Amino acid sequence: MSNPASRRIVLASRPTGAPTPSNFRIETQPIPIPVRGQMLLRTVYLSLDPYMRGRMSDAPSYAPPVEIGSVMVGSTVSRVELSRLPDFAVGDWVLNQGGWQDYALSDGKGVFNLGSRLEHPSHALGVLGMPGFTAYMGLLEIGQPKAGETVVVAAATGAVGSVVGQIAKLKGCRAVGVAGGAEKCRYAVQELGFNECLDHRDPELKKLLARGCPKGIDVYFESVGGVVFDAVLPLLNTHARIPLCGMISHYNDSELPPGRDRTAMVMGTFLKRRVRLQGFIIFDDFGSHFGEFQKQMSEWFAAGKIKYREDMVEGLERAPEAFMGLLEGKNFGKLVVHIGAATA
Ligand SMILES: NC(=O)c1ccc[n+]([C@@H]2O[C@H](COP(=O)([O-])OP(=O)(O)OC[C@H]3O[C@@H](n4cnc5c(N)ncnc54)[C@H](OP(=O)(O)O)[C@@H]3O)[C@@H](O)[C@H]2O)c1
Repeated sequence: MSNPASRRIVLASRPTGAPTPSNFRIETQPIPIPVRGQMLLRTVYLSLDPYMRGRMSDAPSYAPPVEIGSVMVGSTVSRVELSRLPDFAVGDWVLNQGGWQDYALSDGKGVFNLGSRLEHPSHALGVLGMPGFTAYMGLLEIGQPKAGETVVVAAATGAVGSVVGQIAKLKGCRAVGVAGGAEKCRYAVQELGFNECLDHRDPELKKLLARGCPKGIDVYFESVGGVVFDAVLPLLNTHARIPLCGMISHYNDSELPPGRDRTAMVMGTFLKRRVRLQGFIIFDDFGSHFGEFQKQMSEWFAAGKIKYREDMVEGLERAPEAFMGLLEGKNFGKLVVHIGAATA
């Protein structure tokens, strides 16, 4: 083995508000040795995802927090380096929860063997993995889009949103994206095929969105909250559907926002327009559909019907900075960290 040590990034402290570099610490350890019933996995790609902000906090959630001093959690695409398990051979690519580190030991539970030959291994973290699956089930099962309807997509160029918009187009809908900045909006329209894309930083967002959705909004794929939700709310049609996927503009909030309580106004709108809003946690709620999704998405991707963009960051040591940027919209496409060489 060329690398005599394994680096890992642990949670050093819990953030208040936006995470800072001091919340993370890099440590070096000897490469672990697998015993019988284990294998040694070498991380090649690490996925960085918004949910990790929740794991840094000890507030009650659907999953336990990362303990102080423990490795940051995360999905990884890794290679089997040593195996003492019958179903995994040296050189196999696997999708696992390896976390922010060079090497991980595994007993094989929850590890998905991707085989020894893969054209695009990192795609298992994006369009063909959890984010693509989230887009697919959230839009089709909860959003129930029908041809001719208007679908508005928050964080439209991101890992989830980019796929939502493209599926909406495949289903014959008008897809209107909302994204941060002119370059992302141009990409959403010219490359991904959205009918329009609007910049959420534009002070005229409400007016622009009303103009972009002349027949109102039938499906709003919510990933952001904040000003995007405020612009969407008055435009929701009767019987609109909202797949509630995320609220990223609020993930760093440490207290309620100032101002009047708007709950009654929001709920009143939902009541009068008979809006159906459903939150979901992708694998908890739809895990049994993963095979169906993989088959369909692989076909669409191979046929060029779904485009995919990665924002690839080089080096484990850059993961904290890249993750902090994700919460500010600095990524452009699915954020992935390249940790180690594809071949040893
Ligand atoms: N429910 C589930 O099971 C599930 C599964 C996966 C993901 N999610 C959620 O889906 C959402 C998107 O996740 P992703 O992995 O696809 O991430 P992503 O869209 O690739 O990256 C996050 C994007 O969010 C936008 N953003 C960040 N801070 C913002 C702010 N303060 N205001 C407005 N926009 C902001 C930025 O895009 P712009 O520059 O365009 O603003 C940023 O690029 C997140 O809310 C995530 O938690 C939920």
